[in-house]
Amino acid sequence: MDQNELKKAVGRAAVAYVKPGEILGVGTGSTVDCFIDALKESGIDVPACVSSSVRSTAKLEAYGYKVVDLNEVEKIGVYVDGADEIDASFAMIKGGGGALTREKIVAMVSDRFVCIADESKKVDVLGKFPLPIEVIPMATQAVAREVERLGGRPVLRDFVTDNGNNILDVHGWAMQDACAWEEKLNQIVGVVTVGLFARRGADVLLLGTSEGVKTFERE
Ligand code: A5P
Repeated sequence: MDQNELKKAVGRAAVAYVKPGEILGVGTGSTVDCFIDALKESGIDVPACVSSSVRSTAKLEAYGYKVVDLNEVEKIGVYVDGADEIDASFAMIKGGGGALTREKIVAMVSDRFVCIADESKKVDVLGKFPLPIEVIPMATQAVAREVERLGGRPVLRDFVTDNGNNILDVHGWAMQDACAWEEKLNQIVGVVTVGLFARRGADVLLLGTSEGVKTFERE
């Protein structure tokens, strides 16, 4: 099965986690696009969604879903999102699509994070995928120097986030203790969000494999 078929399979599997009548949190990316397609096909009653990006909002609205501001919502039961890498402790690298900040905010207020990913995303140690860090534009070079001091190789992405900020993609880190890395990098002044989702990792992983979708739940 090619990667796209695996993404479609996990997108379909995630629909089973959506609770009819409840507000749904929706992430960003090509796997989430497959989930949104499957959601629409399922016909499940979703009164409103909180979206993590302009991209997902556009897709949801095109299908007729109501998208509400997070400030209008107290809590979200289920949040469905993809990942660029996920390890055995359910810590993830996210932000390949540049939506890491809004994704982290929506994940924070959600009771259950359902991660949907094809098997290429499962890793032993996070860091082969360059770590995205969203930075305030005026701090870009200052943060890049701090990152270099910590042994990383930052590359400025040719991209502006939905929040008007820059992204540094950092190569060269193998992050065994993802929580410690997340905390350390969060301390750098000028950093808006680090694309490490370790303190609030996933609760469920639906992994698309050639033998079918495998479900892993955090203990
Ligand atoms: C978006 O900013 C990311 O966090 C995505 O969740 C992640 O990049 C996975 O994207 P794909 O589903 O397109 O691989």
